[in-house]
Amino acid sequence: MAKEVRIRPIRESELDLVASSSQDPDQAGPYSFFGYSDPGWLRRDFAETGFLTEDRGALAVALGEPTEPGDYIGGVGWHRVTTSPVSFTWNIGIGLLADARGHGYGTRAQRLLAEYLFAHTQVNRVEASTEVDNAAERRSLEKAGFTFEGVLRGACFRAGRWRDMASYSMVRADLG
Ligand SMILES: CC(C)(COP(=O)(O)OP(=O)(O)OC[C@H]1O[C@@H](n2cnc3c(N)ncnc32)[C@H](O)[C@@H]1OP(=O)(O)O)[C@@H](O)C(=O)NCCC(=O)NCCS
Repeated sequence: MAKEVRIRPIRESELDLVASSSQDPDQAGPYSFFGYSDPGWLRRDFAETGFLTEDRGALAVALGEPTEPGDYIGGVGWHRVTTSPVSFTWNIGIGLLADARGHGYGTRAQRLLAEYLFAHTQVNRVEASTEVDNAAERRSLEKAGFTFEGVLRGACFRAGRWRDMASYSMVRADLG
């Protein structure tokens, strides 16, 4: 039977794996390495917030039973984007460990995250963007129920040049 994908709080023992998703170019993959940053920052942030604040959050993507050791296969995150003096949306992101990619887990995790955010906060919109040639993430967002909205030209600087971003969203009514 296929193992179940879950999202849950990140554990202290997983911080090296969390760091590798952004700090190890091989593990980050072609779209998620933005240069090296302060190696102590993740631990300080985790100690202060557990990666869960009113404005942003991060959860582990886990595979299998809740008690299974080594069930961490990646992380999802979100941050607040203010859209008016009285409203905001969540912008989400994801990074799976290299070995966990291509099995449908990213699709499931992004769907679970959207459902989690609609269930536990009052936002009406969850958005995501990815470089236009990140075919796996674009397909994964579509399979998770996100709608393509258009291209943000030259929106993201990575590895020496500005990149066009494909923008996606899910609104509360899309959940049905
Ligand atoms: C992007 C990511 C989250 C997707 O999760 P995943 O579990 O690997 O993806 P899934 O298996 O759920 O689905 C991927 C889909 O894209 C398709 N796909 C993958 N690579 C592709 C490619 N190069 N061209 C076209 N389609 C591709 C797969 O075939 C699959 O679609 P299908 O089920 O219709 O066949 C994951 O690969 C990842 O963490 N990548 C590295 C970090 C990253 O790029 N994060 C997003 C940055 S914005």
